[in-house]
Amino acid sequence: MDGPSFDFAAPGRIVFGAGRSAELPRIVPEFGVRPLVITGSNPARHAELLQALDNPPVATIAGEPTLSLVREAVGAARAADADVIVGVGGGAVLDTAKAVAALAASGGDPLDHLEVVGRGLPLPADVLPWIGVPTTAGTGSEMTMNAVVASPEHGVKASIRGRSLLAEVALVDPLLTLDCPPAVTASSGLDALTQCLEAFVTPHANPITDGFCREGLRRAAAGLRRAYSDGSDLAARTDMALSAALSGLALANAKLGAVHGFAGPLGGMIDAPHGAICAALLPATTRINVRALSERPAGAALLRYSEAAEIITGSLDVTGLIAWLEETNDLLGISGLADLGLAEDRIDEAVAKAGAASSMKGNPIKLTDSELTEILRAALD
Ligand SMILES: NC(=O)c1ccc[n+]([C@@H]2O[C@H](COP(=O)([O-])OP(=O)(O)OC[C@H]3O[C@@H](n4cnc5c(N)ncnc54)[C@H](O)[C@@H]3O)[C@@H](O)[C@H]2O)c1
Repeated sequence: MDGPSFDFAAPGRIVFGAGRSAELPRIVPEFGVRPLVITGSNPARHAELLQALDNPPVATIAGEPTLSLVREAVGAARAADADVIVGVGGGAVLDTAKAVAALAASGGDPLDHLEVVGRGLPLPADVLPWIGVPTTAGTGSEMTMNAVVASPEHGVKASIRGRSLLAEVALVDPLLTLDCPPAVTASSGLDALTQCLEAFVTPHANPITDGFCREGLRRAAAGLRRAYSDGSDLAARTDMALSAALSGLALANAKLGAVHGFAGPLGGMIDAPHGAICAALLPATTRINVRALSERPAGAALLRYSEAAEIITGSLDVTGLIAWLEETNDLLGISGLADLGLAEDRIDEAVAKAGAASSMKGNPIKLTDSELTEILRAALD
C-alpha cells in the first residue's frame, strides 16, 4: 500500500517546563514506594530534590556506563529492594537507570542483552518502572528505548534495547541544566543537533519524527551558541532542552546515521565524551554525505539537507549549513578526533568496526570504506 506506514513509541508521559522538577515527589509514588535514585558523581548537586523525595537510597555513576558499572548499580537496586528507578543526570545516568530498571527484578546480566558484542537477548518480562530527569541538553535518552553501555573488554559501546525501556515519565526541567559547564553544554548540545539532523535525513524517518526534527533543529539553531556563551540564559537553555527531547523522540522512532555509526565504536576505542565525538564528526560527515548523494542520488536526502540548511541558516544552500557547523564547532571549542585520542593508525580499525554498527544502516546513503576513511581523516583536526 502507498503512503506512510510506521510505528511511533514514546514515554508514558512527558512533563516539560522550567521548575517542573518540583513535581517529582508527587510523580514517583504513582509508580512505586521504594525508589532508588541513580545520579552522577556529585549527588549534592541535587540535594534539594533528594530531600523532597525523603532522601531515598542513591547509586552514583562516575563517567559513562560500562558493563561492570551497570552490574554494580543493579546490585544496589536489588539490595534496596527498589520498585521504581529514578535517573537524575546526563545521558550516562539515564542510560544506567534504564539498564537497571531492565535488570533489577530478574538480576540478569547486561551482556546477555547487549547488541553487537553480547547475546542481544530480549529484555526480561519483569522490568521496573523508571522516571528520567535529564540535567544535560542533551542526549534525549529520557525519551528513547535504548541504553548505551560500553564493554571495555570488546572496546566498543553498544545498546541494550527494548520497548519496555521507555520511561513511565520523562520530566524535563531546563532549570536543571543551568549549571552545566560550557564544555558539557557544547558536547551534549551538539549531540542533540546531530540527532535531529541524522533523524531528519535518514530514509527511516516518518512524518511525526520529521516534525520533531524540524522543531528540534530550529531550537538548536536558536539556543546552542547562546547557551554556550551565557549558561544562565534560561530561554536558550529551554530551546536546548526542547531540542534534546525532540531529538530523542525522533531517534527512537527513526534511525540515526554515520556520525552515530562511528560514535559507538569510537566511544569504545578512545576515552572521550560521546557528544564531543559526535561534534567532531558532524561537519565532515555532512560534507561527504552530501557529496556522495550528489554523485549517487538516493531518495530525498539532498532535499532534506537543503531544508535543514534553511531552518538553521535561512538559506537552502547546503554549503552554508556545513560552514555553520564548522563555525559552531570553532565557537564552542570542539576538538578534533586526534586531540580526543584517536591515533591515525587506528582509522582502519574504526572504519571496520563502524561497518557493523546499527546506526550506519540509517545513513541516507551507503558510504564506501574510502569515504568513511575520508570522514575520519577530516575529523582528526
Ligand atoms: N540512550 C540514548 O538514546 C542515548 C543517546 C545519546 C547518547 N547517549 C549516551 O549518553 C551519554 C552522554 O550523555 P551526556 O552528553 O548527557 O553526558 P554525561 O551524562 O556523561 O554528562 C557529562 C558530564 O556532565 C556532568 N553534568 C551533568 N549534568 C550536569 C549539570 N546540570 N551541571 C553540571 N554538570 C553536569 C556529569 O556529571 C558529567 O561529568 C553517553 O554515554 C552516550 O552514549 C544515550
